[in-house]
Amino acid sequence: MPFYYRMKLLDKIGREFSGYNILESGKRLLDRKPLQCSLYVTDRCNLDCAYCTEYDNSRPHPSLDDLKKWIRKIRELGTMRIALVGGEPLVHPNIVELVRYCRELGFATSLTTNGFLLTRKLLAELEDAGLQVIQISVDRMTPSPITKKSFKTILPKLDYFRDSKISLHITGVICADTLPESRAVLETGLSRGIPTEVRLVHADPLHRFRVDRGPREALERFIDSMIERKHRGEKIHTSEAILNYQRSLLRGEHVEWTCMAGYKLFFVSAQGKFWICSMVHTNKDIMDVTLDDLYANYRKKSCQEGCGVYCAVGASLLVEKPVRVLGKEIVARAKRIPSMFRRSLTPDADKATHSAITNPDGTHEMNGSTNGGPSADNRVTSGKSV
Ligand SMILES: C[S@@+](CC[C@H](N)C(=O)[O-])C[C@H]1O[C@@H](n2cnc3c(N)ncnc32)[C@H](O)[C@@H]1O
Ligand code: SF4
Ligand code: SF4
Repeated sequence: MPFYYRMKLLDKIGREFSGYNILESGKRLLDRKPLQCSLYVTDRCNLDCAYCTEYDNSRPHPSLDDLKKWIRKIRELGTMRIALVGGEPLVHPNIVELVRYCRELGFATSLTTNGFLLTRKLLAELEDAGLQVIQISVDRMTPSPITKKSFKTILPKLDYFRDSKISLHITGVICADTLPESRAVLETGLSRGIPTEVRLVHADPLHRFRVDRGPREALERFIDSMIERKHRGEKIHTSEAILNYQRSLLRGEHVEWTCMAGYKLFFVSAQGKFWICSMVHTNKDIMDVTLDDLYANYRKKSCQEGCGVYCAVGASLLVEKPVRVLGKEIVARAKRIPSMFRRSLTPDADKATHSAITNPDGTHEMNGSTNGGPSADNRVTSGKSV
């Protein structure tokens, strides 16, 4: 194999394994400091998803000075990764400066967005500011009264990522409204080489969502199909542990775990309050939180049964059983290497992937074909993952 293609292959293999940031995260598996914080940079949002309780347009944006103060404090606690969330983070007028500030302080930085306000120029600015990961939320192929987050809006924007260093992944919510299109959402992302995940709507014990969860058997079949695809090495953007967890939720099976929310990961509200997770809030100011306060949250919680805060479940399972969780992920990613190798022997395949990413009519690859699944090419997903 010519030198150039050999180096490209090595680069791709390296990227496959950088996603879990194993060495960096490893430090936080051994000490008492937090791994990740999700910071609500605003409560405001330009959409109104029927399953969402995480936005409030009656509140003003927090000021840049306050946000920077909270970000400094989050870093002082030893937090390694920061996830900028909301509301919709892209409606905050200073979002680029916030990303730059997080990077200057040394955070691995990600941003979760509905993507509606994303432009080529804004993506370039975020990249220049050092953003490493973007999660775009896509629930359906076409908008519905329940959720407007669909590939109709996002497909034309995937082209922006063609040469971007920002790592993109796609996440969708499954509920009765979206389930008929969830498979197509998954196929559309995977067929373009984008790590993609669709996950069950959170549990709703207080009946605050305006959606139905969907029929249990169909949901279970769908989760099973994602587990199978994960086994085959496809780029399902979640761990097997979380897929199994969701299947257990549907079956009503008890899962043994200890929630690390409020300790290894925590949330900071757009008013600067320390939140255990997106569902469990406290009135404590983040500026007053100590490492001992965080450690006090290392305990089983009364709300664990049926918990749908998958980022918290995932981080907790990782911290509890790092060898098992990471081992399975490494095996899944290793399964992609043979197809990477094949593609590196046919250099034109890269061009084909480019056109797949930019092809706004994804329907030809949406019918459950596993061959049309994630290519080993990681061009849209280049860059570090947090
Ligand atoms: C609260 S949103 C904030 C960021 C941005 N506005 C967005 O929609 O991506 C963060 C993520 O939570 C997901 N989400 C919101 N409510 C949810 C629910 N009830 N169950 C599961 N996921 C939910 C959204 O789809 C999105 O992927
Ligand atoms: S776009 Fe995000 S924050 Fe806005 S309503 Fe939908 S899920 Fe909630
Ligand atoms: S169990 Fe779930 S809802 Fe309860 S604190 Fe932990 S992450 Fe939050």
